[in-house]
Amino acid sequence: MNPLLEVRGIGKSYGSVVALHDVSAVVRAGEVTCVLGDNGAGKSTLIKVLAGVHRHDTGRYLVDGRPVRFSSPREALALGIATVHQDLALVPLMSVWRNFFLGAEPTRGPFLDRRRGREVARAALADLGVVLRDVEQPVGTLSGGERQCVAIARAVHFGARVLVLDEPTAALGVRQAGVVLRNVARARDRGLGVVLITHNPHHAYPVGDRFLLLNRGRVIGDHAKSEVTPARLTREMAGGAELEALAHELRGVAE
Ligand SMILES: Nc1ncnc2c1ncn2[C@@H]1O[C@H](COP(=O)(O)OP(=O)(O)OP(=O)(O)O)[C@@H](O)[C@H]1O
Ligand SMILES: [Mg+2]
Repeated sequence: MNPLLEVRGIGKSYGSVVALHDVSAVVRAGEVTCVLGDNGAGKSTLIKVLAGVHRHDTGRYLVDGRPVRFSSPREALALGIATVHQDLALVPLMSVWRNFFLGAEPTRGPFLDRRRGREVARAALADLGVVLRDVEQPVGTLSGGERQCVAIARAVHFGARVLVLDEPTAALGVRQAGVVLRNVARARDRGLGVVLITHNPHHAYPVGDRFLLLNRGRVIGDHAKSEVTPARLTREMAGGAELEALAHELRGVAE
């Protein structure tokens, strides 16, 4: 069976900055592919290519085994590729349920069907374990983790096959990160392919099936879960040698 998504030898430059060089990756249904890397590694650039925000300069991008070149996120979405960007694109002063639909609200005749809208949003969120007292409350009153969950629930509800998440746990405490990661696992168990971008190997490891490590736009590791430990991911991400040199240097300072 073809993977949902595949990139082969992708390259992308911004002027003279090479953001991605010869990057290959696979996303399969019912699996979580984690993309790990330090600041500037090219993680967001990779997901922007997957999401149809940017076009790759070189290499191939395949969806269901067929080559694609998206010219807008709408085209990616039409093939079931939903992206939750770090800034989420939610409207803080608008209610949770309106944010859930954001333009696709159920209607009755010429009117919004508020009752049904609230009910559907409440049920979809409860399905992902987010139980809100009132879906009429503004999204801005939710915690960061709950907001991520609204965005994930929306993508799942509207039939995404691939869920791309850019650093969904970066700004979250341990408990809230746990809630988001549990939802990543739920989406995976429903058969979606998930791309999870993170700095944090301890967030990636429990839910990840594959781990792609980027450094300055290049792939420096591509592992199945059975081949790695969180400690090894951390070491590779930091560039093992660099980290040891730093430890040595800091010991020198302390002495
Ligand atoms: N629109 C742009 N124009 C010019 N350069 C860019 C642009 N977007 C990204 N870059 C550069 O491309 C490289 C990769 O950036 P990218 O945002 O993909 O990294 P990242 O891994 O997401 O980093 P972070 O962890 O900080 O989010 C960086 O050197 C960055 O400065
Ligand atoms: Mg980024």
